[in-house]
Amino acid sequence: MKPFLKWAGNKYAIMDRIKAILPDGNRLIEPFSGSAAVFLNTDFNDAILSDINPDLINMYQYLKKDGQKFIGYCSTFFVKETNNADSYYHFRKIFNGTGDTRLRAALFLYFNRHGYNGLCRYNNKGEFNVPFGKYTKPYFPAEEMLQFHSKVQSAELVQQDFMKTMEAARPGDVIYCDPPYVPLTETANFTGYSSGGFGIREQETLAAMAKELSRKGINVVISNHDTHFTQTAYESARIVSFQVRRFISCKGDTRGQANEMLALFGLDGETMVG
Ligand SMILES: C[S@@+](CC[C@H](N)C(=O)[O-])C[C@H]1O[C@@H](n2cnc3c(N)ncnc32)[C@H](O)[C@@H]1O
Repeated sequence: MKPFLKWAGNKYAIMDRIKAILPDGNRLIEPFSGSAAVFLNTDFNDAILSDINPDLINMYQYLKKDGQKFIGYCSTFFVKETNNADSYYHFRKIFNGTGDTRLRAALFLYFNRHGYNGLCRYNNKGEFNVPFGKYTKPYFPAEEMLQFHSKVQSAELVQQDFMKTMEAARPGDVIYCDPPYVPLTETANFTGYSSGGFGIREQETLAAMAKELSRKGINVVISNHDTHFTQTAYESARIVSFQVRRFISCKGDTRGQANEMLALFGLDGETMVG
């Protein structure tokens, strides 16, 4: 099932790799859910979808609750008259000033398909600041939203930091973590503070929590770039590395290779060989 959102780092293309390593369990927990590709393409009885982004979770909550009615409302923003820079910046201004959560939810979807590269970015005042994307005819994902609506009924949606989400796990749960990637080269930004709020400390905390939870019978899988840092941070886990073809240029015509890894922290993780 394809996610209805465009989302940086979405894992739809490597679902086969993830399914091959993801253990079975009663409940799937995704602390960095983004477009929820893993939830949408697996079959657990229960799930917790969580992310730190309040606009993302707010929109999911409306879609879960109102289904077709909310989809209809969102579609009113996907018309020829709103696909131009003036309308886009007008909506962006409204979005950044309104407390109407339903309007914000619909506009969040509008930005996802009309904004530059489907990016989701905020300035330091917390205002959404992605420029207009100039797409000829933005796709309205009605069918994908309807599928999400029906699948998400079994899931709990929570907006919070990953640490809180992971603390709620119980034995028998399976946690799939897809944090913001570590940089391919260790920059000053990464070793100090990162602008996205997810730096070396958060990466280390995540790895430590995964190790600790695995000792309590909670399997944790983490996705990341395969770097010296992640090899060290995940050394007690079973690691699978592979290459992913992805666009590395904004022009869209230069493809590059980046090594991706999946690390499984399981009860017998320390004796498993990657
Ligand atoms: C690589 S994306 C996840 C992509 C997702 N697996 C998918 O298939 O679309 C990382 C996500 O982590 C979220 N995030 C960043 N910092 C976080 C934090 N401290 N706690 C929870 N979520 C966070 C971001 O909002 C983003 O949605």
